[in-house]
Amino acid sequence: MVIDMETMKAELAAAHKTSGRAPRIHPLWLRVTHWLNAFAALIMMFSGWRIYDASPVFAGFVIPPSITLGGWLGGALQWHFAAMWLLVGNGLVYLALNLASGRFATKFFPLSPRGVLKDLVAALQGRLDHGDLRQYNAVQKLAYLVVIVDLIVLVLSGLAIWKSVQFPLLRELMGGYDNARIVHFCAMSVMAAFVVVHVAMVALVPRSLLTMLRGH
Ligand code: HEM
Repeated sequence: MVIDMETMKAELAAAHKTSGRAPRIHPLWLRVTHWLNAFAALIMMFSGWRIYDASPVFAGFVIPPSITLGGWLGGALQWHFAAMWLLVGNGLVYLALNLASGRFATKFFPLSPRGVLKDLVAALQGRLDHGDLRQYNAVQKLAYLVVIVDLIVLVLSGLAIWKSVQFPLLRELMGGYDNARIVHFCAMSVMAAFVVVHVAMVALVPRSLLTMLRGH
C-alpha cells in the first residue's frame, strides 16, 4: 500500500486534533519489550565476554576484563543464565504481539534491495527524511530484521552450547559443539555492531528516543 505525503499529513493532523496530542507511534507493549530486550541483551553481551575470556575461541584474542560483567567465570555465568530467561521470554512476547497485531508486516515490509540502496545513498548524503517517525526507512527496516534474526541465531547457538547433549540436532545444525561457539561469537559481533550504529543513529535523531520512551 502506498500512502502519499499529503494523505499522511492529513491523517497526522486529524489524529492530533482528536486526541489533543501527537499520535502514538510506538504502542506501550513495544516500548516495554524493546527496553527489556536492550537491558537483557547488553547484560548477556558483557557477561558473555567474561565467559569467553575464560576459554578464548580465538587463540590470543581476549576481551579486556575491565569492560566485562561478572568479575570471574562463575559470576559471569550467573549473569548470563539469569538474563537469558528475560531475553527469551521477552523476545517471544515481542515476536508474538508483533505478528498477531499485523505490525510486523506493516512496519518492516515492503522492503526491496532497490529501496535499501536508495535510502542508504540518501542517508550518506544527509538527505534522509525524518519527518514522519511512524515509518521506518528501508535501511532501518533491514537493520531491525537483521538484528531480530541475529538474536534468534544467538539464542539457538547458545542453546546448542549450553545443552549440546540434549539438543544433538541443533548442535549438528551449528556444525558441532566447537563451531557453535564460533557461530555464537559471530552473532554476538553482529549484535554489537548493530548496537553501536543503532545508538549513533538515535543520537542523530534524538526525537526518535522520545517516541521510544513516551510513545509519541
Ligand atoms: C541490544 C540492544 C538493542 C537492540 C537489539 C535494539 C533493537 C531495536 C529494534 C529491533 C527496534 C525496532 C523495534 C520495532 O519497531 O519493532 C528498535 C527501535 C529503537 N531503538 Fe533499539 N535496540 C537496542 C538498544 C537500544 C538503545 C540502547 C537505544 C537508546 C539509545 C535504542 C533506541 C531505539 C529507538 C529510539 C528506536 C525507535 C527508532 C525509531 O522510531 O526511529 N535501542 N531497537
